[in-house]
Amino acid sequence: MSTIHRKQYFSGKNSNDKIVRLVQLTDCHLGLDCSFNLAGVNTHDTFSKVLSAVGVNRPSSYAFVTGDIACGGAEASYQLFSNMMASHQLDYGWLPGNHDDFQQMQKTIPQPFVKAKEFGEWVVISLVSSVPGRVNGELSAYELQSLSDLLEQYKDQFILLFVHHPPVDIQCQWLDEQRISNSEKLDEVVSVHKKVKGIFTGHVHQESETRWFDIPVFTTPSTCFQFTSNSATFDISNQPPGYRWIELFPDGSIKTGVEHIACDEQNIDRNCMGY
Ligand SMILES: [Fe+2]
Repeated sequence: MSTIHRKQYFSGKNSNDKIVRLVQLTDCHLGLDCSFNLAGVNTHDTFSKVLSAVGVNRPSSYAFVTGDIACGGAEASYQLFSNMMASHQLDYGWLPGNHDDFQQMQKTIPQPFVKAKEFGEWVVISLVSSVPGRVNGELSAYELQSLSDLLEQYKDQFILLFVHHPPVDIQCQWLDEQRISNSEKLDEVVSVHKKVKGIFTGHVHQESETRWFDIPVFTTPSTCFQFTSNSATFDISNQPPGYRWIELFPDGSIKTGVEHIACDEQNIDRNCMGY
């Protein structure tokens, strides 16, 4: 196993002290046990390799796991996930994706779901965009009001948002149809305080960087298989598993990049028609 270093993102002035170090892990798609394969990929093995790489390359980072942790929302998948996180001794937060069962997660994962977590000058807010029985994202009135309240509560700090679905197109038509359908409501909330410095999402199984109004939006590769960029229809690429690292600076600037994990033994089924 080796790590391929990819491009980095940097905004604003640098500062070497009080840097908050995070990693984003997403779309693990774990099955009922460690033998489960999806699109020819053993999702337990790839997630395990990603966790090992984080331990080596990004020690002492706090991990945010941004949904689709399980392939089918089963209790056994969340037990598997919890055990893996514990064995790698990673502190972490999580939020649900469209393949997850939020209630089952809250019952099974020992780490409780946390809406806002403070890291010095920064506050990381987790939004729930998944709707039971639906693939696309949407933010409920409760989520939007809760975000508005938190932005008011933490108005003197810099804000980062994690959410499963992107609020903006990433130039893959079939995935863009699944983005947060009412993202204009999200803009109405975040544009009031202008403290949101970045939005980080999963769901699309690929790296992208774009802007949504004046906010940078980053998507992150899955810990298992990736989708082909700029594809109008469902298509699996041969890109390896990956994760995103994020550094938050006291002046409100962000540095982030993606690392892919080379897995020589991968046997991705690119003819797979769904997931
Ligand atoms: Fe998803």
